[in-house]
Amino acid sequence: MSDKTATPASSVLDRVLVLEMVRVTEAAAISASKLIGRGDEKAADAAAVEAMRKAFDELYMDGTVVIGEGERDEAPMLFIGEKVGGAPGKGPKIDIALDPLEGTTITAKAGPNALAVLAAAEEGCLLNAPDVYMDKLAVGPGYPEDIIDLAKTPTENVKAVAAAKGVEPNEIIVCVLDRPRHADLIAELRELGCGIQLIPDGDVAGVIAVTDPETTIDLYMGQGGAPEGVLAAAALRCVGGQFNGRLVFRNESEKARARKWGIEDLGRIYKLDDLAKGDCIFAATGVTDGSLLKGVKRLKGGRMTTESVVMRASSGTVRWVRGEHHSS
Ligand code: FBP
Repeated sequence: MSDKTATPASSVLDRVLVLEMVRVTEAAAISASKLIGRGDEKAADAAAVEAMRKAFDELYMDGTVVIGEGERDEAPMLFIGEKVGGAPGKGPKIDIALDPLEGTTITAKAGPNALAVLAAAEEGCLLNAPDVYMDKLAVGPGYPEDIIDLAKTPTENVKAVAAAKGVEPNEIIVCVLDRPRHADLIAELRELGCGIQLIPDGDVAGVIAVTDPETTIDLYMGQGGAPEGVLAAAALRCVGGQFNGRLVFRNESEKARARKWGIEDLGRIYKLDDLAKGDCIFAATGVTDGSLLKGVKRLKGGRMTTESVVMRASSGTVRWVRGEHHSS
């Protein structure tokens, strides 16, 4: 079966550090939450970035951002290659993939499923994905290995999952980002009679939703950001499920960007281990309410509540953390 297989624990990803990662996503979520529904995507993102950057400094690690806010010349903070952590040259060497605010538009419009999110792994274990689109296909745990295959059509994938689940294709629920580029995919799924959950943004939560039976979502399909694909893959490494991702290039400059990050086979289909290998950590805090986590609640007297999750691949442990905070 395809469920999480035993992954040796990394001594570099010290256990304390696993729990400490939640502080980082909490800080970003709390900061971004001041801007929920304020119609200003940039300000919300900037608030999350700054808070996350600062929170990393509290951690004893020698971290490097491998997926971040962009390349050095486009992002002032948390750019790819930036060193983070309070122990440069001394602490454990850790690669970090992050999205301080996954769902900037959602946050600006007070929509569902915005998250502050990061993944951490030993140096060299996370794919340095360029900021291009990625075709994504994901299914939850409990299915035979390679039940899904991006080289096959959506119809073939739905039929394979339906047969393994023991239901008709029209009983399969698929989560898809609501974008014009998905018109053909949606038409094909409608032809099969599938239920389609269209989400406005936030495909990290969309992909993770396939692992939670409560969502009733069986499959995730469609194109979203490649960096978000690596983050979602890290989560599935921890909780089980299968993922296929293939980079999508719209022009030669995007291809050049991928080559710059050492990607030679531009048509490769990546599976979970190709995106996040070895032991890894995934942590997220809800900014707005969503399928995975409740959002930050700002209450009377400067009190705030947060909901976070932190998972680790080697143990498969998933911890749900409810925080109460007081603004100073
Ligand atoms: P941002 O937080 O950067 O706005 O990303 C939100 C998101 O919906 C991602 O979850 C998704 O992968 C990507 O945007 C899809 O890109 P696009 O909006 O260009 O279709």
